[in-house]
Amino acid sequence: MSAPKKLFIKTYGCQMNVYDSERMAEALGGQGYVEAKTADDADMILLNTCHIREKAAEKVYSELGRMKRLKVAKPDLKIGVAGCVAQAEGEEIMRRQPAVDLVVGPQSYHRLPEMETKIRAGEKALDTDFPEEDKFEALKNRPKSKRGPTAFLTVQEGCDKFCAFCVVPYTRGAEVSRPADRILTETRELVERGVREITLLGQNVNAYHGAGANGDLTLAQLIWELNKIDGLARIRFTTSHPNDMTDDLIEAHGTCDKLMPYLHLPVQSGSDTILKRMNRSHTAESYLRVVEKIRAARPDILLSGDFIVGFPEETEADFQATMDLVEEVKYGTAYSFKYSTRPGTPAAERPQIDDIEASERLQRLQTLLSHQQREIQNSMVGREVGVLFEKPGRLEGQMGGKSDYLHAVHVDNCDKQVGDLARVRIVSSSTNSLAGELIR
Ligand code: SAH
Ligand code: SF4
Ligand code: F3S
Repeated sequence: MSAPKKLFIKTYGCQMNVYDSERMAEALGGQGYVEAKTADDADMILLNTCHIREKAAEKVYSELGRMKRLKVAKPDLKIGVAGCVAQAEGEEIMRRQPAVDLVVGPQSYHRLPEMETKIRAGEKALDTDFPEEDKFEALKNRPKSKRGPTAFLTVQEGCDKFCAFCVVPYTRGAEVSRPADRILTETRELVERGVREITLLGQNVNAYHGAGANGDLTLAQLIWELNKIDGLARIRFTTSHPNDMTDDLIEAHGTCDKLMPYLHLPVQSGSDTILKRMNRSHTAESYLRVVEKIRAARPDILLSGDFIVGFPEETEADFQATMDLVEEVKYGTAYSFKYSTRPGTPAAERPQIDDIEASERLQRLQTLLSHQQREIQNSMVGREVGVLFEKPGRLEGQMGGKSDYLHAVHVDNCDKQVGDLARVRIVSSSTNSLAGELIR
């Protein structure tokens, strides 16, 4: 028998791409591919790409330039581009970089096995369809890769919201929810393979409305079903839109024991003028009202957010409104970006603001956000939290994991194993993590 071929996947972008990369590895597992540790070692390289900001997309081409050189030493090496850049740019990628053999979009990668056969025969392969069939179902009997105690699980894909700055509705397509029974089956199977924590994923995960036995389930109803699965200890979900934070989901944060006290709820801006131009269909006030309701249901919840600064025509007063909103909410973690013009989106047509001004605002916002992050992390000292251990720490006898609030925690002299969940008292806080001790 010939030696197995080796596949190297490099993943960019959001968690949904991480989930898709695992599925792509499974799709090609049936073709005799095993995982390569490095690109140099691979017979096939797949870049699973992100198109959200210009920098992310451009990175792909510089990476492809490097990969092309590997092909000189190894002419049989195949190079593929998957993900959102593949969807957005299609054939253009092969024109810009002729070393690319294959381009596959985020909705058609279950067809990778046929595409692989084609490129092995020396042809090029391109597929950026939005097919009718369910890609996850098509892959369900494929050989499964190894697993740690945490897993992502895509429950909803695509977006119908069309925020004026965003490419996702174009690259991922329309909003689709997976049927609830498939999610429950996949979760049970993950639990059998050692998973203790799942993070339900969707571009608008809280808009989930997947088919159940008695009609569609809301995300909250799905979470309650998952809550019944023995062996599953923790449930998280991301990313949520403020307008889809329904009362049943807010309530679940107060009553569902496996649902963790962490919520990523992007607002983008604190200025109503900008929110309107962004087509966000919520105001700063309505967002603050939602936050208030969530905190009433679960006072200790850790909130996370996304912000865009320097959106077209943003004034200093608009930016100040964002700073004020941040002051009011107090975020435990946050992601903030300078607006990036995306071809084909409505905001790209609007007057852009001065780049130096935008960078300066981003700096001010990030200073405030990291101050809040630090304060909230420091406030954990002295508290008792749950920790799910994910890997041994750097020191002998040390274990590392994540708290209920998703803080990195390490514990010295720890007799717990990977996958164990324990009560831990936090004793100190350093730059990127907390130190704790087991409560006996
Ligand atoms: N569906 C999620 C976010 C998807 S994209 C939501 O609606 O919240 C992740 C984040 O990237 C967004 O929340 C936004 O803050 C940022 N982003 C999206 N498009 C961008 C652009 N053109 N420039 C800068 N940041 C952008
Ligand atoms: Fe993009 Fe807006 Fe959809 Fe989020 S809700 S994916 S930001 S269009
Ligand atoms: Fe990027 Fe596509 Fe995710 S554009 S953020 S990889 S949905």
